[in-house]
Amino acid sequence: MKEKQIILNFKESDDFSELEPDNRDLINLAREAASRAYAPYSRFRVGAALRLDNGKIITGNNQENAAYPSGLCAERVALFAASSQYPGAKVEIIAIAVDTDNHSVIQPASPCGACRQVMAETEHRQGKPIRVIFTGETGRSVTVDGMKNLLPASFTSNNLK
Ligand code: THU
Repeated sequence: MKEKQIILNFKESDDFSELEPDNRDLINLAREAASRAYAPYSRFRVGAALRLDNGKIITGNNQENAAYPSGLCAERVALFAASSQYPGAKVEIIAIAVDTDNHSVIQPASPCGACRQVMAETEHRQGKPIRVIFTGETGRSVTVDGMKNLLPASFTSNNLK
């Protein structure tokens, strides 16, 4: 048996001003989207803004439900909206932001496993890595280039063959 290791690469920053202007703009759109979330149960509003290779920007936010599991995360709302409106377009980058009542979330909102799986499928389908930037409510952010750094060894359509 061989022992193997997986190395994950990501960038961390404590200051939005260090980011490229395009990336900051997308974070701002994600923040605006977060403020429109329907999250009456958790009161943890999440926004996502993604840019497609045709230049279109699609946003989404978490949509909760009294039957809790029926809700959906911001990232998947945005990714599914993009796929439904522009099925052939490639996702270049997705920014994720948070909006809470006391605006004290420092920890960047790391996408959940189900959202990572959908990002991995999107990336596999388009054959081009996606940049993911996640933030909290302060200047701290994490930037990841490619899903191999967020969901290594993921299940894809190759596994079905
Ligand atoms: N949520 C997201 O929208 N995205 C994430 O990446 C993590 C969690 C939502 C789901 C739920 O509405 C609320 O945040 C609290 O978990």
